[in-house]
Amino acid sequence: MAPAQSESADTSEGLVRDRLRAAPVLVGRDGELGELLAGLDAAACGTGRLFLLAGDPGIGKSRLAYEAAARARDRGFKVTWGRCWEAGGAPAYWPWVQALRALVRGVGREELVPQLGAGAPFVAQIVAEVAEILPEVGPPPPMGAEAARFGLFDAVAAFMRNAGAGQPLMVVLDDLHAADAPSILLLRFVARELGEARVLVLGAYRDMELDRGHPLTVALGELSREPATRHVRLSGLDEAGVARLIREVTGVMPRESVAAAVYRDTEGNPLFVGEVARLLAAEGRLERAGDPAGMELAIPAGIREVIGRRAARLPEPCGRVLGLASVFGREFWLPALERLCGVGAGELLDSLEEAIAAGLVAAVPGAPGRLRFSHALIRDTLYEAIPAGRRLRLHQQAGEALEAFYRPDLDPHLAELARHFVEAAAGGGAGKAAGYAERAGHRAVGLLAYEEAARLFKIALAALSLARPPGEDQARCRLLVALGGCADRDGRAPGGQGRAAPGGRPRAPLPDGRGAGPGRAGLCGVRGARRQRPADNPAPAGRAGHARRQRRCGAGPRAGARRAGGRAPRPARPRATRCAQPAGDRPGPGVR
Ligand SMILES: Nc1ncnc2c1ncn2[C@@H]1O[C@H](COP(=O)(O)OP(=O)(O)O)[C@@H](O)[C@H]1O
Ligand SMILES: [Mg+2]
Repeated sequence: MAPAQSESADTSEGLVRDRLRAAPVLVGRDGELGELLAGLDAAACGTGRLFLLAGDPGIGKSRLAYEAAARARDRGFKVTWGRCWEAGGAPAYWPWVQALRALVRGVGREELVPQLGAGAPFVAQIVAEVAEILPEVGPPPPMGAEAARFGLFDAVAAFMRNAGAGQPLMVVLDDLHAADAPSILLLRFVARELGEARVLVLGAYRDMELDRGHPLTVALGELSREPATRHVRLSGLDEAGVARLIREVTGVMPRESVAAAVYRDTEGNPLFVGEVARLLAAEGRLERAGDPAGMELAIPAGIREVIGRRAARLPEPCGRVLGLASVFGREFWLPALERLCGVGAGELLDSLEEAIAAGLVAAVPGAPGRLRFSHALIRDTLYEAIPAGRRLRLHQQAGEALEAFYRPDLDPHLAELARHFVEAAAGGGAGKAAGYAERAGHRAVGLLAYEEAARLFKIALAALSLARPPGEDQARCRLLVALGGCADRDGRAPGGQGRAAPGGRPRAPLPDGRGAGPGRAGLCGVRGARRQRPADNPAPAGRAGHARRQRRCGAGPRAGARRAGGRAPRPARPRATRCAQPAGDRPGPGVR
C-alpha cells in the first residue's frame, strides 16, 4: 500500500505515535529496487521490459511498486496503474481497463488520435473513455471472434508503444493472481510487443495463490521466455530491516531483543511486522517490551491473528461497520455502506475515523467517497469473522444496495452484482444470481473476454440449479449454448485440449508442452485472426513488424513445444504466510 497520509502527532524518537502510519520510507529492498531502476533506464532507451514481481501476501510487492513508480515519475515516465479485485466481481480486463483509462484521460484529443491510430475502435470496446473523447470512433468492422480479439490485443499493444514513444511509460498491474483469464492473455500478447517500446510493465502477484490451472501459472512459462521479462521475488526483511520498520511505523526504536523476537516470529514479512508493531504500541507494550524486568512479547502466531486482535480493539460501532464494509471487498463506497449499516454519512465517517487512525483503512486517492482496507488480508480477516449465515444475508443486502445505486447504468457493474447475489444464492436469491451472471457473461462476450464469459455462464448454470425457476429448461439450454459459443471463440483447439477448465481457467500444460499456451492455434487464434481479417479492414496501429509479431505469438505445434516447461522451484513458504492462508483453506496442488 502507499504510505498513509496521516500525520504523526509526535515525530520525536522514543515515544509511540498516537497515530500509527505506514512506514514513510522504503526499508531495505535496495537490490530489488536497483533492478527495477535499471529496467526503467532500459525502457527509457527503447528496450521495453516486463517485470514480474512475486512474493507472499504482505511481503511488500505493492510497496516496492509504489517506490519504483515514484522513481519512474522522477525520471519523466508517465505512470499508470491497474489493480485486480481480489474479492472477485470485477468487469473483464479490469486491470487493463484502469491502466488504459488513465492513459486515455491523460492526453488531449490531438495526442490521443495518433496514439490510438487505426486501433481506436478496438480500444474503445473496453475503454469507454475513448468514445467520450473521440465520439467519431465507431465500433470495429464485423469480423470473426478470433480476429476481433487479435485486433483488440494488437491495438492495446500499439497504443502502449505509441504512448511511450513521446514520454516513456510505466504500467503497473497489481495483484495479477486475481486477474481474469483474458487479462493474462493480453499481458502475454503485450509482453511480446515490448521489444523496442519505451514501456516498462510491472506485474505483481502472490505466487502462493497460483495452482496448476491458474491462467497466470500457464502464462508464466511463456512470459519467462520473452527477452523483455525479468523476475523479482521478494522475501522477508532482515533483522535490522525489521527494527527499522518498527521504528518507522511507531516512532520507537525497539530494543534489540524485541526486534529479534519480532523478526523470528514474522520472518521479516513487513505487513506482519507492521501489524505486530502497531498492536504492541496500541497495547502499550512496545516501550516496555523486552526491558530487563522481562516482559513477555507474546506475538500472535500469524498475520490474521494479529489483525484480528487489532480489529477487536476498535470501539463499537467502528468494528461492526468495518466488518460490514468487508462484505463489499477490499474497496468500498460510503453511500452503499450507509445503506448496509442503516446510518447516515456523518455517523458512518465518525465510526470509521478510528479505523483510519489505526491504519486499517484509508481513503482512495482521487476517488471521493471510496475507502479501502490497507491490505487485502485485513479485509479477508474481518470478512471471515462474519458467521456464514449472516454473510449470506449481508451479500443479499449489499447486492440490493449496489443495484439501487447502479440502476441507471447496470452494465459495467453486472459482474459485481452477480458476485453478491451468487454469495447470497443459498439464502433464496439464486434467481437473481443466475440472471446477473448470465447478463455479465454476455457482456464479457461483447468485450471479447470469452474465458471470463464462460466462467460467468457456468456460475449462472449453478445458480439456476439452486433457483429452479419456471422455464428453467429453456434458461439452461440458453446458457449451455452461450457456453459452447465461448469455447468455440476462445481460439482453443477442438477435442478439449487447451479448452477452459472448470472455473474458466485454461488447462495446465500437458507434459509434452501441448496445450501449454492458450490453445494450439496460438494466442487467441492468431493464425485464424490473420486469415479472417477482411481485406478492407484497416489493421490496428503499429503494423510495422506485424508478421514478426505474429510469428512470435506462438502459432503452431512447435510453439506449443517451446511453451512447455516448468518454473523454477520456489522456496518453502514461510510460517508467516502459512498463517495468512484462510483457516480451513487447503492450498491447491501447485501451492508449495
Ligand atoms: N520495504 C518496506 N518498507 C516499509 N514498509 C513496507 C515495506 N514493504 C512493505 N511495507 C509495508 O507493509 C505493508 C504490506 O506491504 P504491501 O506492499 O501492501 O504487501 P503486498 O503487496 O506484497 O501484499 C504495507 O503497509 C507496506 O507499506
Ligand atoms: Mg499488494
